[in-house]
Amino acid sequence: MAEYNIAVIPGDGIGPEIVAGARVVLDAVSRKYGHKFNYTELYMGGCAIDKFGVPLPDETVEVCKKSDAVLMGSIGGNTSTSPWYKLPPHLRPEAGLLGIRKALGLFANLRPCLLYPQLSGACPLKEEISAKGFDMLIMRELTGGLYFGERYTKEFDGVTTAVDTLSYNENEIRRIAIQAFEVAMKRRKKVSSVDKANVLDSSRLWRKIINEVAEDYPEVEVEHVLVDNAAMQLVRDPAQFDVMVTENMFGDILSDEASMITGSIGMLPSASLNESKLGLYEPSGGSAPDIAGKDIANPIATILSAAMLLRYSLDMKDEPDAIEAAVSKVLDLGYRTGDIMSDGMTKVGCKKMAELIAENI
Ligand code: IPM
Ligand code: MG
Repeated sequence: MAEYNIAVIPGDGIGPEIVAGARVVLDAVSRKYGHKFNYTELYMGGCAIDKFGVPLPDETVEVCKKSDAVLMGSIGGNTSTSPWYKLPPHLRPEAGLLGIRKALGLFANLRPCLLYPQLSGACPLKEEISAKGFDMLIMRELTGGLYFGERYTKEFDGVTTAVDTLSYNENEIRRIAIQAFEVAMKRRKKVSSVDKANVLDSSRLWRKIINEVAEDYPEVEVEHVLVDNAAMQLVRDPAQFDVMVTENMFGDILSDEASMITGSIGMLPSASLNESKLGLYEPSGGSAPDIAGKDIANPIATILSAAMLLRYSLDMKDEPDAIEAAVSKVLDLGYRTGDIMSDGMTKVGCKKMAELIAENI
């Protein structure tokens, strides 16, 4: 029996519920396919602040580094009301997430966005657009750019000034470009690189390196799209995109936009990968503190993240396929959590949804 070590970071808000749901499904996979998953639960984010005074305890980083993969829920709380947001920025929950991305070198963030035919009614776009369907993947650079550049707030001549720095070197761009082209080769062979090359130097270098890497992938069609235009095209004609590759901040914004047009952010998984097989898998959505603990969150994004974990970090094929098929089956059977509920369907909670998917493995 193959054994795997999975670090688990439930986190804050709905994190613990949705991760519990994913574990129910992983347990069904382990029974059916004869694997042994050893889970180690770790603290990160607000719960780590409450317990240890820091958002990213050393132990969390150490155990993650030694594991085969990391499964995460979500971190953070209400930024207006939670006491966590009275702390200095480097001690807030998000610093834990940014810290683990950096500590594990997770430079490539894969966010697939697809419109499930069963949920096309939840798509906020006009029917003539949603009828075409769409299936794209945003490849977001995750350890560079504005998120990790030098930042400070200082007085210059009596005027308070805040500075954030957007910097990329060619190596950082090349490695994410290679990931994008590799993934495109396994999909519909189109890469849309998003930048702001009409204004930013970092984008001009980005475009140059994308073009260089493209030469090694003659089968892949490449286009360059300015970020403002990309935001528009996503709602005008999302079906035109296959793999969209972009820098950290643009990817943060566009991936939320892309998730919204699928009908619910509660459906979208993500994988963050480094140069080795180690990856961190989490739903694209946040901790949703307003609905935490009510058993109404949608666990599907986390369950699909677990499928990506099996595929990318544990090199499995049938098992992740089985999870994705089970999700589709349960949707076909008409079960819905509140966020994707529509007339005539059966509304279920977080726990029940996970159990239904596990039963269909
Ligand atoms: C995301 C989140 C994070 C980000 C926040 C929580 C720091 O929005 O994963 O997209 O901006 O990267
Ligand atoms: Mg985001």
